[in-house]
Parts: sequence; structure tokens; C-alpha cells
Amino acid sequence: MKNDDFASAGRPAAPLAPAPAPMILLAPMEGLLDFVLRDILTRVGGIDRCVSEFIRITDQLLPERVFTRIVPELHTGSRTLAGVPVRAQLLGSDPVCLAENAGRLAGLGPAGIDLNFGCPAKVVNRHGGGAALLDEPETVFAIVSAVRRAVPGDMPVSAKMRLGFNDDSRAVECALAIAEGGADELVVHARTKAQAYRPPAYWERIADIRTAVQIPVVANGEIWTVDDARRCREASGCESLMLGRGVVTDPGLGLAIKAAMNGDAAPAGVLPGISWPELLPLLAEFWCIVCARLEPRSRAGRLKQWLNFLRRRFPEAETAYQQLRTLNDPALIDAWLAGVAGPPRGAGQPCRRHTFSRAC
Ligand SMILES: Cc1cc2nc3c(=O)[nH]c(=O)nc-3n(C[C@H](O)[C@H](O)[C@H](O)COP(=O)(O)O)c2cc1C
Repeated sequence: MKNDDFASAGRPAAPLAPAPAPMILLAPMEGLLDFVLRDILTRVGGIDRCVSEFIRITDQLLPERVFTRIVPELHTGSRTLAGVPVRAQLLGSDPVCLAENAGRLAGLGPAGIDLNFGCPAKVVNRHGGGAALLDEPETVFAIVSAVRRAVPGDMPVSAKMRLGFNDDSRAVECALAIAEGGADELVVHARTKAQAYRPPAYWERIADIRTAVQIPVVANGEIWTVDDARRCREASGCESLMLGRGVVTDPGLGLAIKAAMNGDAAPAGVLPGISWPELLPLLAEFWCIVCARLEPRSRAGRLKQWLNFLRRRFPEAETAYQQLRTLNDPALIDAWLAGVAGPPRGAGQPCRRHTFSRAC
């Protein structure tokens, strides 16, 4: 079934709105995919839009600085340096408090507001937030409609859900609550909370949701290769995809999927995407921004965390990971990077991330 078929399901024939162009979205990933990695990954290309890691709302109206700390792109038109829009994600369970915070966030001009109905963290679920809400479609509806009312009509409100908490029996009900609450778009991570991150992802269950709701649905979960993307699109019927760990592991995955979607033939022997030598300057830039923006004690860990993903795709990253594994001194890491990625830009030279940078 094609993406635009759902628009006519169960309704009299009416002129169809043009189907939205297929998009590749960068997944929100708290503790991994922050503004630094969003900046670097969107420079590679192949990503149309990002969602920030979640901003947790409990019982308070958060000060603006909390929103801009997690989504510093709010200072730059809600776009990464490469110009890719970033939506800010809110997580909570109280419709009134979420709406108040969404109103304040809207004043900072995000490219949209996304609502989290999928977080599996115990501390979040214990307070009724994230995936726990999938047992309460009526609260899901109350949250989406309250947030929709609290933000300007032209500001997109989207949502991201899992298939359920313990099982997927209420997946369609939750998706309908999201659509009827007024969301413009729904991303579905094709697993329940109980299934955590264990493969497989049940892409075919997204098709049931897609045929039930009349808003664009984006498929997410276990897309690591171009072939996974093709199979996910076939099984879910969704044209647009959200990529998480796959693109952190292979930053050229979005480009490669787009090339395949457009039927571009790669020259013989050339893999579409990005090679390790092309990635090295970006790794150096990543390190530069990390050093400018993060506490000294968390810097080395951030580089190793990304290398730990990259080593699944690039043998050179495995070597790099082994060489850096025991290093924590930023000066030693500088020296290592200078050896593999060329000399540093020089002490005191600013990062390209000019808007919210300090000197490296
Ligand atoms: C470390 C980590 C952090 C995540 N943080 C968020 C988050 O803040 N908000 C959210 O909606 N999903 C979050 N997710 C879920 C991802 O957005 C995505 O749905 C999931 O990883 C499946 O996609 P993938 O197989 O492409 O990685 C997180 C996942 C991981 C592994």
C-alpha cells in the first residue's frame, strides 16, 4: 500500500493533498545524540530534520535556559550549523504542565515540538511518563490536545511512540489518540517497552497504525543498512524513516538511503555514504566542540562513546578505539587526533561552531 492511500481510507473521495516528500529524520537519543553530534552528523548530509533529546517536565514551568541548554540550536533559528531544522522534544505526564512548558518553549522559536510516548526509563515510567502513557490513551489524547492548543497553529506538534508498554494491543488506539489530539506527524518505534532494544523491530505493526490514522507516519527501529531501510519501507508502507543508532554507527547512512531512494547508481566499487578518511576531519571537529563545551572529565568519554558505535562499521574505528580506550588526558587525545586527522587548527582558534563556541 502506498503512503497516500491512508488519506482516503473510510472517507468519501476528495482531492488528495500532495503526499509529503519522503524524509530521513535523526532520532532523539538522550545521553548520546546531543547538539554536538547533531551538528556533526547533519554536516555529513542525508538528514532532513532532527529531534532533540527529551526535556523532562515534572511539575514546574522550566526557565528558558533549560530549553536552550538542551537545544542550543534555539539560538540559531532552531537549525544545526548545516541548516537542518531541530524540533524540541518534551516528556511528561501532566497535560497542564506540559502545555505551559510547551507555550514557553514555543516562544523560543523551535522548528516544532515533539512529544515523547516511548521512553522506557524506570524513573520516567514510575512517574507515569514516556512509554507508561501507552496504557492510557485518554491521557495521551489530553496531552497532545493541550500542547496543540498551547502553541501557535503554524508550529508543528509531532509525537513519537512505541507500540505499547507490555504488549502492542493498544498501539492503534494510542496512535488515534495522538492524531485526534491534533499532532501533525507520528513517529513509531516498532517495539514495545518490554521489548526494550532487542531485535527485531516489528515494522509490519507500523502499517496497521499508518492505515488507521490520517497524519504522516514515520517508521523507526533497527535500520542499520540501506537494505534494512528498503525492507522497513516495504513492511511499514512508510516512505519516511527515522534513524538512530544506525546513523551514529554509519554517519553516511542517510546519504546512502537517499541515494537508493532516488535510484542513484554508485560508481562501481564505491559505496554511497562516507568513508573513514572523510570522517576523520569530522571526528576532529567533534572533539574540538566537545572540548569547548563539556566539562573536562566527560570529554574523553564522549569521544570513546562515539568510536564505540563507529567501530561496528569501520575497522579503522576499532583500531582507534583500542588505542584510545585507556586514554583520558585531553592532551594525549589531541596528539592522537593530530596523528590521524592532521595538525590541529592551533590553540585559541575558534571552532566552526561560531555561534555558541569558545576557543578550542
Ligand atoms: C541511548 C538512547 C537514548 C534515547 N533517547 C531518546 C529520547 O530522548 N527520546 C526518544 O523519543 N527516544 C529516545 N531513544 C529511542 C530512539 O529515538 C529510537 O527510537 C531507538 O533507538 C530505535 O531506533 P534505532 O534502532 O534506529 O536506534 C533513545 C534510544 C537510545 C538507544
